[in-house]
Amino acid sequence: MKVIIAENYDEMSKEAFKVMKELLDEKPNATLGLATGSSPEGLYALMVEDHKKNGTSYKDVHTYNLDEYVDIDRNDPQSYYTFMNEHLFSGIDIKPENTHVPYGSTAEEAKEYDDQVKGVDIQLLGIGRNGHIGFNEPGTPFDERTHIVELTESTRDANKRFFDNDINKVPTHAISQGVGTVMDAKKILLIASGKDKAEAVKAMIEGPVTTECPASVLQNHPDTVVIVDKDAASLLTK
Ligand code: F6R
Repeated sequence: MKVIIAENYDEMSKEAFKVMKELLDEKPNATLGLATGSSPEGLYALMVEDHKKNGTSYKDVHTYNLDEYVDIDRNDPQSYYTFMNEHLFSGIDIKPENTHVPYGSTAEEAKEYDDQVKGVDIQLLGIGRNGHIGFNEPGTPFDERTHIVELTESTRDANKRFFDNDINKVPTHAISQGVGTVMDAKKILLIASGKDKAEAVKAMIEGPVTTECPASVLQNHPDTVVIVDKDAASLLTK
C-alpha cells in the first residue's frame, strides 16, 4: 500500500488526478471504476478541466460505478447516475453507452451488473466513516460480489446532507459492487479528506485486515495508492 499525504482537499485531488492521467496517457482505452460522493468531486473537476484545456479524450474509455441507491429514480437529483452525469460525464467526450452505473433492487440485477464489470484498470474509492468501501458495510465478507445492501445508520447519517439533512429521506438500501468485485481491479486509488475520516483511515492502513473495517482488505491488494489529506491522516502513527 502506497500512502501519500497531501496538504488539503485540493492537493489530494491534484495528486489523484496525476495517477488517473498517467493511466489515461498510457492507455487511452482504459476501464475506470468510479465512485461518487464528496471525495472525488475535485478530481472529476480536474479531469473535466484537463479534457477541455488539453483535449485528453475519453472516447475509448469505459466506466463502471460502484453503487447506487435502491428505489431512486435514475434522474433524481440525488441519484448517483445524476451525480456522475453532472460531475464528470457531461464534461468529457465519453460515449454514454460506455458508462455504467448499477441499477436495481434484486439479486438477479446485481449479478447481471457484476458480470459486466470486467478488466477495471483503476478503481477509485472513497471511504466511509465506518470504513466502508462502495457500500460494503462492516461485516461484509471479503469475497462478496455485487449485491443489495441495507445501509447502516452511520452511512445514512453521513449522507443525509444530500437529503435536506433528514435521515428519513435517505434511502435504506443500495446496490453495490462487492469487496470481491472491487479487489479484481488492477489498481486501487483511494482518496479521503477531513478529520471525520481519520479513524477509518487509521484502521484501513494500520489496523488488522478485518471485515470490521472493509477498507482494510486493501492491504491485501498488490497495487493500492491511498491519497489522504493531513486531517484524514492525523491519527496515523507510522
Ligand atoms: C460512493 C461510495 C462510498 C463513498 C464513501 C465516502 O460511490 O461508494 O463508499 O466513497 O461513503 O463518501 P464521501 O466521499 O462523500 O465522504
